[in-house]
Amino acid sequence: MCGIFAVINDKKNNASQTIIEGLKKLEYRGYDSWGIAVKTKNKLVVEKHIGKIGNAQTFLPLSNIGIGHTRWATHGGVFDKNAHPHLDCNNQFAVIHNGIVENYLEIKEKLIKKNHKFLSETDTEIIAHMIEEELKNKDYSIDDLAKKVFKSFKKLAGSNAVGILDAKTETIIACRNGSPLVFGFDEKNNQYFLSSDIPALLKHTKNVYFLNDNEAVVLNKNFFQVYDLIKEIPKKINFEKINLKSSSAEKEGYPHFLIKEIDEQKKTILKTAEKNIFLIEKSLKYFKKAKKIIFIGCGTAYHCALLAKYLFAKNGFESDAYQANEFSAFSNLINKKTLIIAISQSGETADTILAVKSAKNKDAKIISIINNRGSTLERISDFFVPIYTGPEIAVVSTKAFTSQLIITYLLAKSLNFKQKEGLKNIKKLSKELNKWLNQSLKNKIIDLAKKLLKENHFYIIGKDLNYPASLEFALKIKETAYTHAEAFASGELKHGVIALIEKNTPCFVLASNDEHKNDIISSATEIKARNGKIFGIAPFESKIFDFFIQTPDIKELTIIPNIIIGQLLGYYLGIGKGADPDKPRNLAKSVTVK
Ligand code: F6R
Repeated sequence: MCGIFAVINDKKNNASQTIIEGLKKLEYRGYDSWGIAVKTKNKLVVEKHIGKIGNAQTFLPLSNIGIGHTRWATHGGVFDKNAHPHLDCNNQFAVIHNGIVENYLEIKEKLIKKNHKFLSETDTEIIAHMIEEELKNKDYSIDDLAKKVFKSFKKLAGSNAVGILDAKTETIIACRNGSPLVFGFDEKNNQYFLSSDIPALLKHTKNVYFLNDNEAVVLNKNFFQVYDLIKEIPKKINFEKINLKSSSAEKEGYPHFLIKEIDEQKKTILKTAEKNIFLIEKSLKYFKKAKKIIFIGCGTAYHCALLAKYLFAKNGFESDAYQANEFSAFSNLINKKTLIIAISQSGETADTILAVKSAKNKDAKIISIINNRGSTLERISDFFVPIYTGPEIAVVSTKAFTSQLIITYLLAKSLNFKQKEGLKNIKKLSKELNKWLNQSLKNKIIDLAKKLLKENHFYIIGKDLNYPASLEFALKIKETAYTHAEAFASGELKHGVIALIEKNTPCFVLASNDEHKNDIISSATEIKARNGKIFGIAPFESKIFDFFIQTPDIKELTIIPNIIIGQLLGYYLGIGKGADPDKPRNLAKSVTVK
């Protein structure tokens, strides 16, 4: 949700070029509009554009210092004037921002009374004017500037990350409270970078520092300094080495990140399991102490939470699963004996973080299952399990979801003393995926997508584990293909849903080779009797299916290939409809606002 990128001491003296490349790597965070500001000899020069950054070029003048932003609109429509960076009245300070300033209206009113002129409808613009107001008519040093920036930032309510470029001192100051910010240091070339996320930094440096909440960094061509924002004192930091290849954030020959990431599941699922056995063992003590286990997440991560609830039940453990954004309804039930397992790819989803914070206030213990290292969620958890899938760039989650699911599966199996069996099944799944997820399967899905391209409604049914799997299958179709897809527990059909079935209504039936197989076929038969068209996704064939895609039979884990069909179908339908599979309309990769 908005991407921030900045450079200082650009080694080619071409900051705008470095920034545009960085923004392209962050575009998954927001793609309504983008903008860059650089400092030339005399002044700040800014360019702003609406639309995706895609293949855009920049022709800003040469400079070794600049900031850039890719936007996901919150306050103010998608117009050039609302794109960041925003300036103060004297074009002295350029500001980029990720988050929402909840009290911006009252601050704006005060600034207007002091004659500040606003050019945009954003909350962000107030920040430039606040700093201007603080330093009005003053001959200031970098220290003075830093103090005024800290003071202004601390007045902002909400979760925010802000970057400010000051033309006079040629300094960039960034502050974080709630929204992510990474500081990268390329020691060899003395280049400093700021970024909302790791992928944009990999090309320049693997030496990074994840700013904590209430920290700031001051960057000038001669030095950098991290500060504790509350006490306003300098802080010593240790850089972390990021162990990722820069190619992990590239398409590597694939037309889109989405299809690359779908394919990567052939490797990531096993990698997640094997790299985490030790951590899973270590985490078990939290489960043993807990009286209540609750999984939370949003969107796809919530579907993982719901699947985890089923998997835990199968292994004899009671748990619950909530959408993090609905957690407040149940938070009175939380106490120090509660264990929350927060599931999040980004580790920055505001709803999930708020739910976790409210549970922490009740002394609950928190385990998080995350992909993005250094994230807020990682830091506020008592224990975290990283899934190690590498950057997930496509906005639609695929490989992160299946790896999160594998962690919950292994947790359930481990608690039930069946870890070895679990690992054996995961190895089998990985082996089967390597054979099955091939071009001939993709061709079959392409044919199916062509047949279904004109349909406006899909229904998906499943029972037991295949019910949450159906919810995830439907979400992939909605997000990537913009087609209404609705999932139901197959048993619910006769309780009302069946009224929706008309002649040739496409209905997907997700099934596994388990004790529910006959039940689901009966539900499919009821649909067929109303002339619906049945698309079977299962390891077994049935005469009731009008169209059949066989998935490998891996017991409980059959749900993973069943869901992969939804990922592939969403992708190919999206392409057929001319959508951008990596950046579906209206969505952002990490939803850092409430
Ligand atoms: C769906 C999708 C979203 C995310 C949700 C939570 O494909 O990507 O539904 O799953 O926004 O995001 P994280 O996992 O980052 O907390």
